[in-house]
Amino acid sequence: MSTENRDDLIQAKRQLNNVLRECHEKEVFNFALFQHNPSAITVVDKDGKVVKSNLARRHAHDPLPELGHTLFSGESECDVIMKSELKKVLAQNTVREVSDVRAGGHIYAFTLAPFAHGVIVIRQDITEHKRAEAQLVQAQKLAALGTLVSGVAHEVSNPNNVMLLGLKTLRRVVDDLLPVLDAHREQAGDFEVGIGPYSEFREELPEMVDSCYRAAERINRLVTDLKGYARKDEGEAHVPFDINTVVQSAADLMGSTIRKATHNFILDCADDLPPVHGAARRIEQVIINLLSNACQALPRQDGHITVSTAYNRAAKEVHVRVQDDGVGIPPEALSQITDPFFTTKHDTGGTGLGLSISRQIADNHGGALVFSSAGGRGALVTLTLPATSHEEPHA
Ligand SMILES: Nc1ncnc2c1ncn2[C@@H]1O[C@H](COP(=O)(O)OP(=O)(O)O)[C@@H](O)[C@H]1O
Ligand SMILES: [Mg+2]
Repeated sequence: MSTENRDDLIQAKRQLNNVLRECHEKEVFNFALFQHNPSAITVVDKDGKVVKSNLARRHAHDPLPELGHTLFSGESECDVIMKSELKKVLAQNTVREVSDVRAGGHIYAFTLAPFAHGVIVIRQDITEHKRAEAQLVQAQKLAALGTLVSGVAHEVSNPNNVMLLGLKTLRRVVDDLLPVLDAHREQAGDFEVGIGPYSEFREELPEMVDSCYRAAERINRLVTDLKGYARKDEGEAHVPFDINTVVQSAADLMGSTIRKATHNFILDCADDLPPVHGAARRIEQVIINLLSNACQALPRQDGHITVSTAYNRAAKEVHVRVQDDGVGIPPEALSQITDPFFTTKHDTGGTGLGLSISRQIADNHGGALVFSSAGGRGALVTLTLPATSHEEPHA
């Protein structure tokens, strides 16, 4: 072999080694990319059978068919959709994206990428993303609804106040007029009023005016609650305040309602509570709502209502508990009672807005409202608010 030929050979060998090394590096790179990819990846052959899978797929909550078994073999909606998508990818040799595929309470987005020996199936769990998206839409809808509601409430409340005032006067006028009309009937005999004889109308008239007045009062209640709902937290200043003072003032404001509902009202305020931070009047509104629900839950005056305050040092939270031993909340209603307009008091004019407003206010204060009703007897509502850290040493 000539020196020239030998040099060529050495040169070719060197090049080959370089190519092999590059191939190996690419292989290691691709393997790492596949194995540690956060998306769940499964590689299937042209028959849709599992060839390999990455860590994310193997650690996913749902089991993967064993190697050599068909990936989408079931009858579930997901399997049926994906089986047909896989077929299309193989037939057309193009990448396909399939989103919003539901399976086992999860929502997935799939990417199917064909290669020489089959298809790479990339699955992303987009459940949380979808949930967050839905929540945002819901929040925007509620904000828009709030604005609309406050506008409508305002528009309704003015004419309704005119009716309330008018009906109140009308009721007194009717009381004064009836004897005059009675006298007239004695003298001149029965006569026609409106749609029939006076004698028939006479008995109904006071009740008619009364029920109109009660209806207007009901509208007034709804409008007041709706205004509270829309107001929620109208950018009032958040300042430190003493929760016991607020609880006491709510109990004072509700005094006559409480006395009508129960002979057994206990207010138990803990000493030495750290202040909480927020809009005291909003928190007072929450406690009034809870107290009024407790009063309405008691069927008889020998029922009990206990309001207490406490400090959870470990959690740095101030608690206000409102407990009654009234009708209780059925377990199936527990998840709904803070929904706007959810009420079991249709007959007595409940608006179903009290707890919805209260929860929003608690949320706005970084707090929470927790409900419990053991065995559907009585109810305990706990308002939790973060304590301001006045105890901490100054930095
Ligand atoms: N202390 C309680 N005991 C029993 N049920 C309650 C209590 N508090 C609330 N609820 C239930 O939650 C529902 C919603 O309460 P709320 O939002 O204040 O509206 P409303 O009082 O106008 O019905 C009530 O209709 C009632 O069914
Ligand atoms: Mg209520």
